[in-house]
Amino acid sequence: MKIAILTSGGDAPGMNAAIRSVVKCAIYNGMEVFGVKHGYKGLIEQELFKLNSLDVENIAEMGGTILKTARCIEFTNEEGRKKALSTLEKFGIDGVIVIGGDGSFKGAKKLCDLGISTVGLPGTIDNDLNYTDYCIGFDTTLNTVLGCIKNIKDTDSSHEKTTIVEVMGRYCGDLALYSALAGGGEIISTPENKLSFDDICEKLGKSIQNGKKDNIIIVTERMYDIDDLQKYIECKLHINIRSTVLGFIQRGGNPSAFDRVLAFKMGVKAVKLLMNGFSNKAVGIRNNKIIYVNFDEVNSENNNRQKDYDLLNMFF
Ligand code: ADP
Ligand code: F6P
Repeated sequence: MKIAILTSGGDAPGMNAAIRSVVKCAIYNGMEVFGVKHGYKGLIEQELFKLNSLDVENIAEMGGTILKTARCIEFTNEEGRKKALSTLEKFGIDGVIVIGGDGSFKGAKKLCDLGISTVGLPGTIDNDLNYTDYCIGFDTTLNTVLGCIKNIKDTDSSHEKTTIVEVMGRYCGDLALYSALAGGGEIISTPENKLSFDDICEKLGKSIQNGKKDNIIIVTERMYDIDDLQKYIECKLHINIRSTVLGFIQRGGNPSAFDRVLAFKMGVKAVKLLMNGFSNKAVGIRNNKIIYVNFDEVNSENNNRQKDYDLLNMFF
């Protein structure tokens, strides 16, 4: 059996560990593996090359993806996908493993519809996929965010100042929520639990009144203009505060042990699914068990974290 592996969408720490796992497991089981560069663009442009065991030595600890990644508009139309299909036929590929997020899985489903056995591994720092408790990359990014917040806290506490910290997540609040659960912030606003400017002022005002002069307000990206939020708080509470957008520093870095182990287990599962004739499956983890669902069941809309928000509300 010949399989191909690609990474697509935003890179996430742990993608390399997943590539290593897939390549080693596939070769162990007598398969041939081809790496595809630049995600779906590489399928269209025939950027396939054979991967051997030695090619994936010492990559589990590296951030980013050795296969490179891309967002590819051409693959979203039929014409582009036909080109991808003819590349797969030309190389005699029987199955494809796609590592990426929600968008990449939509693409993977389209490959299934064209008759190519396809399995997806969730690789996104946003953790925005409904069917899995964790995506590869989330834990690493969460730790990076907490490290940055810790540094901000050192200076905030010295100056008795408050900082608004904007974190990534696209339209999902998990990075902000888990940062707060881990003790990284006092006030959070996420797409799932959005606070108005006045709500934030009220919570901050109370915290300051209670004697806590340095506070971290964590907000998910794309929700507000954080300069406007900063000015609003400063005017309403008559204080000076700071704001920081963490940006791409969150997406890089060596994957955590958790992400590496998760990637390893999911990679093995993906290969076994293809070996056993399965297709149209997204691999995930639920209640500490590796699971898989059909691509149709995957969306990025409902992560169902209400219980976690309730826990947080007990504290703040
Ligand atoms: P992510 O996988 O991180 O969510 P994107 O949403 O950017 O990232 O999707 C990655 C790529 O997946 C897109 O650039 C495109 O090539 C492919 N893709 C996304 N949506 C579709 C779709 N509806 N049909 C086919 N391909 C898609
Ligand atoms: O999906 C990962 C992510 O880093 C999001 O958190 C962020 O909104 C987006 O990608 C940024 O995308 P780009 O790399 O295209 O700027």
